Amino acid sequence: MKILSGIQPSGQLHIGNYFGMMQTMISRMEDSELYVFIVDLHALTSVRKRNLLAEGTLEAAADFLALGLDPDKCIFWVQSDVSEVCELTWILSTLAPMGLIERCHSYKDKVAKGLTASHGLFSYPVLMAADILLYQAEQVPVGKDQKQHLEVARDLAQKFNHEYGDTFVVPEPAIHKQTATVPGLDGQKMSKSYGNTIPIFLEGKQLKKRVMAIETDATPVEDPKDPANCNLYTIMELFAAPARMKEIHDLYVNGGAAYGYLKLELLDLLDDKFGEARRKKVEFLADPEMLRAILAKGAEKAREKAVVTLDLVRDRVGLKY
Ligand code: ADP
Ligand code: TRP
Repeated sequence: MKILSGIQPSGQLHIGNYFGMMQTMISRMEDSELYVFIVDLHALTSVRKRNLLAEGTLEAAADFLALGLDPDKCIFWVQSDVSEVCELTWILSTLAPMGLIERCHSYKDKVAKGLTASHGLFSYPVLMAADILLYQAEQVPVGKDQKQHLEVARDLAQKFNHEYGDTFVVPEPAIHKQTATVPGLDGQKMSKSYGNTIPIFLEGKQLKKRVMAIETDATPVEDPKDPANCNLYTIMELFAAPARMKEIHDLYVNGGAAYGYLKLELLDLLDDKFGEARRKKVEFLADPEMLRAILAKGAEKAREKAVVTLDLVRDRVGLKY
């Protein structure tokens, strides 16, 4: 099985990114042909500062490696290092109906949040389709927010195959029910752009401040509470052992759940889960040349695959004369 997914280096990676995508990717190293990449070209639609993008890219690489991604067991690279993707984006964009791209809500959401309404932001889903189709990915693990973009990739693959003959694999999204949308501190989707995140690599006082800021209602400790509508409960479920979660569930339903106490418990769980990765990340970041070498090797492996597809595509559409 060919599995592929990418992440933008547009801010500190958070537990929504971890459960929505990174964890699944890292867990599939042994049993699949895995493609993991950092989508810096996509991040250009929102990051305008040179250093922020360049440093963010290296940092995202350190994040993945610290969390256990083994670059010898997958293809791990930076999107812009394989520029073939830009050529495929153009070819696909000549086939992409305006209506299909206009329907994408992520563009409208981002503009509503203040991002510049650029052509790049608008055609973001076409670049994403090119990312996926170039490597003939079969499965794409993502959070629920990316489902529509996957549909665009599928539509474009089918349209191309119909016009020019079978060329692309039609990819399937892989979205896990429990982690499809990890809520943020305020109960909305956790997202770098909403400022409501729990970053994976935050620690100490700063992490405590975020965890304590998880919004809860004002029900007194001894009163029963509804776990289904509690943001803190949903986040705890991602980290606590099932037996402990059962106890917490009973405290909610029967009364006795103290939010402040549970937040401190969550803080310990976060430290247990990510403590080792935090230490490893420091080591990776101390050696940027090693990071660059890993990414360069990954880009070489990715390009080998990309040129095969692009060559076929060029031939199919008539760019080979
Ligand atoms: P953000 O919204 O924070 O900018 P990205 O758009 O870079 O995150 O998302 C990277 C990956 O993480 C995507 O697969 C996305 O679906 C997933 N993801 C992001 N936020 C969440 C979340 N709150 N819950 C589940 N998955 C998420
Ligand atoms: N659009 C995705 C996001 O914002 C990132 C992304 C770009 C991606 N190319 C991809 C995800 C290809 C999966 C496959 O999170």
